[in-house]
Amino acid sequence: MSNKVTVSVIKADVGSVVGHSRPHPKMMARCEEIMRDGVKAGTINDFYVTRVGDDINLYMTHFKGENHKDVHGLAWEAFKSSAKIAKDMKLYAAGQDILKDAFSGNVRGAGPGAAEMEIAERGSEPVLFFMADKTEPSAYSMPLSRIFMDPFTTTGLVIDPRAHEGFKFEIVDVFKCKKIVMSAPEESYDILSLLGDTTRYAIKRVFSKDPSLDVAAVVSTEKLNVCAGKYVGKDDPVALVRCQSGFPAVGEVLQPFMFPALVAGWMRGSHYGALYPCSVDDSDPTFFDGPPRIVCLGFQISNGKLQGCEDPDSPPGVHKPVDFFAGSVWDEARRKAVKASIYIRQHGPFMPSILGPEEMEYTTRPAVLEKLTKRMEDIE
Ligand code: F6R
Ligand code: MG
Ligand code: MG
Repeated sequence: MSNKVTVSVIKADVGSVVGHSRPHPKMMARCEEIMRDGVKAGTINDFYVTRVGDDINLYMTHFKGENHKDVHGLAWEAFKSSAKIAKDMKLYAAGQDILKDAFSGNVRGAGPGAAEMEIAERGSEPVLFFMADKTEPSAYSMPLSRIFMDPFTTTGLVIDPRAHEGFKFEIVDVFKCKKIVMSAPEESYDILSLLGDTTRYAIKRVFSKDPSLDVAAVVSTEKLNVCAGKYVGKDDPVALVRCQSGFPAVGEVLQPFMFPALVAGWMRGSHYGALYPCSVDDSDPTFFDGPPRIVCLGFQISNGKLQGCEDPDSPPGVHKPVDFFAGSVWDEARRKAVKASIYIRQHGPFMPSILGPEEMEYTTRPAVLEKLTKRMEDIE
């Protein structure tokens, strides 16, 4: 047991209605029941169950540290149990992210994704929870670069003395399973030289250079297609970002999402689409299984609990987060995302609408080439 609080977000797609759209309310209710049991048993301190598109997200706080087997085990039990409900109702892709029959102490490599941070809770601790659907971890690389490296986004990098020191980036090579910590602003151009290749590199963590602040952001980078040994998904990653008082302000963290960047993972995990910022309720995929969605919910972490606003429609003590992309300010970004998505869709099955050949989650190319081998002739 640590005196630091751990914020864990563990997510999985274990079936949805209709097609890959949204989990059934019974599945969400089952997860809530299991989370409540987890609080009673002392496994976790607090929780919130939500979703983006077809992915169930379990937000949990506890004092057990990252990768704790009881916390991961609780999430695993919730997903297994909701997958059973999905199977019984014959929902679509029931059990999709349950890649192993038995839990082996940690959800990593077993299908679900996890973003966790163990923090010394400050006097006041605002945290943003990002959830993306139909895309991959490197979708966060451009916004996080802007948030933590770009003074035209985060004026705090220029005028807040602690942010002014810059931030450190832990970058992973998702194919080679290697990582490196680099420092901004000194190494900004080298950092971008890696991150610009979104097929291979992604930000895993960002740290403040002030040791009393420590971790600033964390992204789930379990590439399902690699960890499962074959192409089975595109992660639909989550990210946690701490804000204010030496970290970027909430508004500085949100600003980059006004630009609906093209990200990989749309339709069959094989297309580029523009990242559409929206509320939880607006996160059902509605156009060509997308476009890729990004939702941002905010909680204060307060004495190890998730402090939001009291919800008049829920039992006493149940708190709702702030749903940041719900408001009309984001209509402009949504309109742009739809326009850009329509534009790129007009390329049909041609690049750059589809991904490069190594990245395609679905492909018939090897079979087609095999069939044509005998008819291929040398060019004089
Ligand atoms: C699922 C997703 C969808 C599916 C597509 C084809 O997360 O992104 O775009 O890849 O609907 O699904 P299947 O092969 O199940 O018919
Ligand atoms: Mg699905
Ligand atoms: Mg999904």
